[in-house]
This record gives sequence, structure tokens and C-alpha cells, in this order.
Amino acid sequence: MWKPAQRIRFQAQPGRWPTREEATRARLFQGIALGPTWLEERTWVPAMVPWRATDTGFVTDDVLDWYRRFAEGRPGAIVVEATGVRDVASGPLLRIGDDRFLDGLKRLVDTVQKASGGRTRLFIQLIDFLAIRRRPQREKYFRRFLAITPKHREWLGMPDAPEESVRAKLMDLPDDDLAGVLTRRELDDLNIGFRERVTDVHAQHIAELPQTLPAIFADAAGRAEFAGFDGVELHYAHAYTMASFLSALNTRSDGYGGSPAQRVRLPLAVYQSVRSAVGQKFAVGCRFLTEDCISGGSNVDDAVYFALQFARAGMDFLSLSRGGKFEDAKQPRVGEAAYPYTGPSGYECMPQYLSDELGPFGRNVEPVARIRAAVRNGGFATPVVVAGGIHGFQQAERILDDGKADIIGFARQALADPDWFAKVREGRGDAVRVCEYTNYCEGLDQKHKQVTCQLWDREARDERGVALSKDGRRRLVAPAWDRR
Ligand SMILES: Cc1cc2nc3c(=O)[nH]c(=O)nc-3n(C[C@H](O)[C@H](O)[C@H](O)COP(=O)(O)O)c2cc1C
Ligand code: SF4
Repeated sequence: MWKPAQRIRFQAQPGRWPTREEATRARLFQGIALGPTWLEERTWVPAMVPWRATDTGFVTDDVLDWYRRFAEGRPGAIVVEATGVRDVASGPLLRIGDDRFLDGLKRLVDTVQKASGGRTRLFIQLIDFLAIRRRPQREKYFRRFLAITPKHREWLGMPDAPEESVRAKLMDLPDDDLAGVLTRRELDDLNIGFRERVTDVHAQHIAELPQTLPAIFADAAGRAEFAGFDGVELHYAHAYTMASFLSALNTRSDGYGGSPAQRVRLPLAVYQSVRSAVGQKFAVGCRFLTEDCISGGSNVDDAVYFALQFARAGMDFLSLSRGGKFEDAKQPRVGEAAYPYTGPSGYECMPQYLSDELGPFGRNVEPVARIRAAVRNGGFATPVVVAGGIHGFQQAERILDDGKADIIGFARQALADPDWFAKVREGRGDAVRVCEYTNYCEGLDQKHKQVTCQLWDREARDERGVALSKDGRRRLVAPAWDRR
């Protein structure tokens, strides 16, 4: 993963933990309405893909164990990992694009309700993504993938040569020359791997996304409601389809790109379609970016505008992340696909302990505060969720006290210790296993390996009933809290 050049070493400092009485009075542990639903407290476990679904997208026992473990800490809400809305092969990523996924999803809802004593609200993150391919071998690219154009022929001075000769000539060109003859996009396809963009409107299925996606998301949300979830989080963040519509890099000229008003049209249409497909007791919100954190991408002003549009449309919550884009991702090795969290914008999304002056703890708080203030000034009470390096009680409480957010997301901290919430609530903060923000978990995610935390995955592996990772070396869920 990319790290800031300064490489200043930070250590998580949770500060003083509250007594049980202090916790009872704390804002963090007060309830909050989230549209039609009620959170018992303002703690939130954001979506995290743990790579535990089957290769065909079904819920497994490992998925149930993973969410049961979070539910045992009884946070206010858990958002189930990014779950594909289409019925297309997508590896071990959960899917909700067909009714055959319902049984597993119902079991998941049941598991969380039981483990949390009905206290934790359960949302599911709905994602759509476009096609991406592995970085090709140079020879394969020139022999098979590159579409030969008149521009290539003209540059080479081979107007009438057989296509095979043009391909062979291109393949032998030094990189400097290739930069002159290939388009920016062709170079990316060669050096990074083919990746569909929302601006590829020459492809019919991309041109038609504004017509097809609202119904696809609505069907998925209907299934989520049927399975018993309390609501859905529409994934409008990071590197995926909906975030790409919101991004300032979206130059579509069909009314769904260009100005912020046009970029937000499809996200609003998807929301409206979802809203009309679900009942009034079902919460619908979204996760989007305070900033794209890439050159030419959207900034906080854009996010303020989107937030106001989403609030006005009636969304029940706004969850804010940052960065996590493909555009600045690290070049993958040949045979591997680009991964959106490997560049500077990826760092902004999941900042780790080697950082710049800003540090990894709460980098998203000020942008979120600006967005929340604009939403309030606009006359909307929509709850705003913040995440990014939050691990301490005082840190979380101050954000709430200062009116910078309404709900606090703890992703990696909950992964490091799913009992954070119970321990702090009970005045046992001293027992918290504090996240070290090493991003070992994220490294596993990147390789699509079962995600675990280095602070517990080697602990008591021989205990009875402990499930181990496929490599047999790591336990899959955190050990139980020993209350002695
Ligand atoms: C292993 C892992 C998987 C993640 N998967 C998702 C995801 O499915 N959807 C999403 O919006 N964010 C995802 N994230 C980002 C987190 O939700 C969160 O925004 C980020 O880790 C920063 O918060 P934190 O500092 O509290 O961890 C993931 C993070 C990790 C570490
Ligand atoms: S592996 Fe554990 S300690 Fe390291 S960042 Fe992930 S959750 Fe935190």
C-alpha cells in the first residue's frame, strides 16, 4: 500500500476510558433515529468485505460467524459488506441479485438479531461495479486485445499492411515510441489492464446504465427488506459505478455527467427507485466520498452539493468515506488486476500508522463536519456517519460533542476488537485490544484472502471449535472476551 513520503510514525492513543456511569451518560451511547429505524447508540461498524462468501456469492457459516462476532459487541448498527446487486459471477463477494440468495441472507439477519439480543440494527451495502481485467502479458495484448486503428497504421506508415504485421511492429516498439502511437487509454489497458469506465458510452450496456441500474438496485433492496434487514446503504463511494457517476471525472454528455447537477442524477434516480420499492419502515441511505482525493476528482464542495441533494430527496442517513479510487492505484503485476486502495487515494480511505503531519486518526472528520454543517444549514436533520482512524472513546465523544458527525464508524477498530462497544459501555475500556493501523487486514483483503487481524489471528488456535483460514494458520474470528 502507498504511504506518505514523510513516513511519520503514529501510535493509536485511545486516551482515558470512561467509567460505566460516564459511558451511560455519553453521547456515543445515546440513541438516535435513523429515518424509520432507531439506533440504540451512535456506534456503527462500516462495511468490510471479509472474503468469506462462496465463489458463487452465497452466505456461508464463516460469514455468519464473522457477523455474529461483531453483533456480540452490540454496536448501534452493522453494515454488511459490499454485496453485488447483479446476478453475475463476481468471485467470493456476497450477492443479492436473485431470490436464491435470500435463504442465506435471512440466516444472516437472524444470526445478528440473536447475537445482539435484537439491539443492533443491520444494514446491507448494495454495490454495482464495472468490469476489470488483469494486466495482460505484452505479447497477448498486441496479438489479441489491442484493436488496430487507422491512427496506428498512419503512425507506423503501414496503411495497407496485413493486421498481423502491424501488431508485430507495435509489439517491437520501445516504450517511448509506444507512448506516441497508443492512446492514453490503450497504454492503460497495456500497462494496468482493461477497466470499464462510466464514460465508455460507445458500449451499449454502459450507455444504458441510467436506464438499467435504478431497477437493479430496487430489486436488490426489495430482497434485503424481504430477508429482514433494517435498511440498505447504497454504495456510492470509492472506485465503483455510482461513485464514478458522482466523480468530477465523469464527462458523460448524455445528461448524466459534467456538472454536479448532472452527475448526481443517476444516484438520485437509483435512490428514488429503491425508495419506491421498499416499505416505510425500511431505512435507505448511502455511502459517498467527502473527496475523491485524485487529480481532477470531486472535492468537498461537490460533496456538500451531493449531500444536500441526498438529504432533500429524503435519504435516512449519509455515511462518508474518502478516496479509494482506481485512477491512482499501483500498477499491478502482469496477471494481476489493479486494486483501488493501493495509491494515495487508497491511503486516504484506510490511513495507516506511517503517515504525514495530518496523521491517520480522523483525517475525514473536518470534511465531514463541513458537509454536516451544510446539511444542517439547509434545514435537514439527516444523520451523518464518519469513519477513518477512530479508536478512542474521547476521540469519538469529542466529534459528537463538537457537532462534527452524528454517528461514529469504527471499521478496523471493530475488526481488532469486536467487543470495543461492550467493553467501553461497561467501563472496561482498559480491556480493549486497540487497533495498530498496520493494514495487515487490508493486505489480506487486497489478495482476496480471508480477512483477519494480526492482533488475534494466532491466538488460541487449538481451542475447541475454532475455525481456521484456508491456509490453516489463522483463526477466522476474534477470541471471546475473557471477562476475568
Ligand atoms: C478489510 C476491509 C474491507 C473493507 N470493505 C469495505 C466495503 O465493502 N465497503 C466500504 O464502503 N468500505 C470498505 N472498507 C473501508 C471501511 O469501511 C472504512 O471506511 C475504512 O477502513 C476506514 O475506517 P477505519 O479507519 O475505521 O477502519 C473496508 C476496509 C477494510 C479494512
Ligand atoms: S490487522 Fe488488526 S491491528 Fe492491523 S489495521 Fe487491521 S484491524 Fe488494525
